[in-house]
Amino acid sequence: MYNLLQGKKGIIFGALDEKSIAWKTAIRCNEEGAQIILTNAPIAMRMGEINKLAEQINAPVISCDISSNEDVANLITKSMEHFAGGVDFILHSVGMSLNIRKGKHYTEIDYGFNAKTLDISAMSLHRLLATCLKMDAINEWGSVVALSYIAAQRVFPDYNEMADAKALLESVGRSFGYHYGTKKKVRINTISQSPTRTTAGSGVKGFDGFMSYAEKMSPLGNASAEDCANYCVTLFSDMTRMVTMQNLFHDGGFSFTGVSQAVVEQMEK
Ligand SMILES: NC(=O)c1ccc[n+]([C@@H]2O[C@H](COP(=O)([O-])OP(=O)(O)OC[C@H]3O[C@@H](n4cnc5c(N)ncnc54)[C@H](O)[C@@H]3O)[C@@H](O)[C@H]2O)c1
Repeated sequence: MYNLLQGKKGIIFGALDEKSIAWKTAIRCNEEGAQIILTNAPIAMRMGEINKLAEQINAPVISCDISSNEDVANLITKSMEHFAGGVDFILHSVGMSLNIRKGKHYTEIDYGFNAKTLDISAMSLHRLLATCLKMDAINEWGSVVALSYIAAQRVFPDYNEMADAKALLESVGRSFGYHYGTKKKVRINTISQSPTRTTAGSGVKGFDGFMSYAEKMSPLGNASAEDCANYCVTLFSDMTRMVTMQNLFHDGGFSFTGVSQAVVEQMEK
């Protein structure tokens, strides 16, 4: 423990169960001294185990469907009441693909589902930031992090429409990062995380295959959810005050490796 977040207050979206990246991040933020508010979609709160985490870190839980303007406004109002002021950090750890759920191939997606996917997984970051800006809910030098995946830049066929959602998410992070930075000195970044065994991750077809491929292709191996939580802590801390509008690869070197010896050897077999 380094007390990196002593006195800081934050909102964490997306803790569904113990495997969730958001779950691990909430625990690490709490260990580093932060006070947390947990939030998730009403349906996920009924299915998930968020109350167990809430008890463990002594955090209130406020339900919020991130695709609803009213829910997001309600969450921010209640958070500001609870903390008697603004927050210092927010984790957007939310993803959902309706076409993947319905088993639709990328070349045959349903555009109604697609609009919902883009709204929940990407434009929700815009909605959240726009609401916070309007309500002046994030303190100066505050930090917002959203989770992304390298399918935003390179093709992973089974990642389907989520590739487009992540490209949009990263773009919103950059664009809003400019406006929030100039107006309020708030910074916004996305973390592009290694494949990680969670509920959302395991929903992608062929997940085990590309998880072990990524492991073989990464000089340091895949980054775990715990590693990701630690990286989030640094980005919420004052040690990274001048980092904004970035998509930060947190993937053991996968993104810049052309080919690894392990993969070459496999191909020669
Ligand atoms: N697991 C991976 O391999 C991996 C890799 C890179 C990035 N990511 C990203 O990390 C983030 C967290 O995912 P995870 O892997 O921890 O899985 P997870 O399933 O534990 O978390 C996804 C969360 O999104 C929430 N959510 C879905 N719809 C919502 C809505 N309408 N409103 C509010 N919340 C909603 C779910 O309830 C859940 O808590 C996602 O953005 C995901 O795309 C995951």
